[in-house]
Amino acid sequence: MCDADTSAKQFTVAIVGGGIGGLTLAIGLIRRNVRVQIYEAVTAFEEVGLGLSIGPAAHRAMPLIDPHICDIYDSLVTTHADSPGYERFRQTYFEIVWATGPQAGQVLMDLKALPSGQTTLRRADFLDALVNLIPEGTVHFGKRLRSLEETSTGVNLLFEDGSSVVADVVVGCDGIRSKVKESVLPEEMEQSQPRYSGMYSYRAILDMETMVEAVGDQRARVSTMYIGQGAYAVSFPIMRAKKVNISLYTSSETWDSDTWVRPANRHDMERDFGHMGDHVNALIKHMPDPSQLAIFERRHISTFWKSRVAILGDAAHSSTPHQGAGAGQAIEDAHVLAELLSDPSVMTPAHVTAAFYAYDAVRRPRSQRVVTNSKDNADLLCLRYAGVGDNELKLKEILQERFRWLWDIDVEEQMESARKIMLELLEKMD
Ligand SMILES: Cc1cc2nc3c(=O)[nH]c(=O)nc-3n(C[C@H](O)[C@H](O)[C@H](O)COP(=O)(O)OP(=O)(O)OC[C@H]3O[C@@H](n4cnc5c(N)ncnc54)[C@H](O)[C@@H]3O)c2cc1C
Ligand SMILES: *[C@@H]1O[C@H](CO)[C@@H](O)[C@H](O)[C@H]1NC(C)=O
Repeated sequence: MCDADTSAKQFTVAIVGGGIGGLTLAIGLIRRNVRVQIYEAVTAFEEVGLGLSIGPAAHRAMPLIDPHICDIYDSLVTTHADSPGYERFRQTYFEIVWATGPQAGQVLMDLKALPSGQTTLRRADFLDALVNLIPEGTVHFGKRLRSLEETSTGVNLLFEDGSSVVADVVVGCDGIRSKVKESVLPEEMEQSQPRYSGMYSYRAILDMETMVEAVGDQRARVSTMYIGQGAYAVSFPIMRAKKVNISLYTSSETWDSDTWVRPANRHDMERDFGHMGDHVNALIKHMPDPSQLAIFERRHISTFWKSRVAILGDAAHSSTPHQGAGAGQAIEDAHVLAELLSDPSVMTPAHVTAAFYAYDAVRRPRSQRVVTNSKDNADLLCLRYAGVGDNELKLKEILQERFRWLWDIDVEEQMESARKIMLELLEKMD
């Protein structure tokens, strides 16, 4: 980076969508002296933000993008160490507990995520802090992309408010309903529509005191997955362990609603989780009358880029939530792409196409495998994965193995292998 004047790059990167992926990519590029502009649909990040948890691989990618990102993340997260007396669980991701069967209530395994453990934060807090790292005038709020059109000289971005800009190159980080993806892959939009995945969930946030009363101190304070026949439940501390986030997942072949949320009541929950043992039943007793949320899935797409336009994060590979890896994958994408686009050999929009090619070659297989694994994970946690079922040893082994694959990757090597692909291609182009 030092022996070339990167400010002489003949392009500015237009980023559509300022979520986790868009902002981390922008910060990585700015730090490497690549010009960016960000167009974000909302006018401010919503107060009632979703919670996020990011695993070890993405945690290691954060400081490589920019050390500030990691500092911010570490300062905002809730961990097991927020509960006095539970510091020994600092590196625990989840304790996995049998909900049903002869060992009901006992711990199957303490699944560690080394070294970071379970970490959760509010998405809106993280985004607000990330925006503060970006120079004024770079993020344009209230710009919802309507359509995108490539011309001989660039890419026209047309926004819902009637305004438009011409961009040199575009990265679509606009989430699950990506408009940028529509323009990259119009022919695949039909088959990549969301489909009901065969599971729905109930959600609740309980006070820690209520939670302790319901399931005891350790089950309340340590992140827990309860595994049972055809269903599983997850709880983890949030907000400095003042509250606990609970999700219950169950299988049902059909979803008879047009929307992804439908009203439900206590009896529905009792019917779905009555067989799930004392802990889960105690949780249900304290959960307010809930709604049911359908879990959707999408088919893999054939490419993450076309010409001067690429897609990143959920726009490219949205996943079911059974592995908690969506945001982490967006961060891994951002790390690879920031390094490629800032490489001194990438000077023109034509060179950028080589960067997109390499990004796709390295990131598509891994992120799509994460999507597939997330689906398999649901079957594992519901004790119905072929060849494993409720076999204790096999369950431990396969869960450990799958999370290792997700977490133990050498993120620098991932990036360098993409760089190698790009440099070989650029050599052929010149
Ligand atoms: C229920 C649920 C639970 C989850 N739990 C976890 C978890 O525990 N851990 C984890 O790692 N991941 C989790 N995820 C996934 C995670 O939220 C996403 O993978 C992650 O936010 C993806 O980041 P992104 O930047 O690609 O998209 P987003 O964060 O969705 O950002 C997209 C941005 O683009 C903007 N935008 C959208 N359309 C337009 C447009 N047309 N023009 C301009 N801007 C636009 C949006 O306003 C938004 O700011 C969960 C997801 C869901 C749905
Ligand atoms: C609770 O967890 C779910 C699933 O992981 C997540 O979607 C939701 O945003 C979380 N809510 C809060 C308030 O943390």
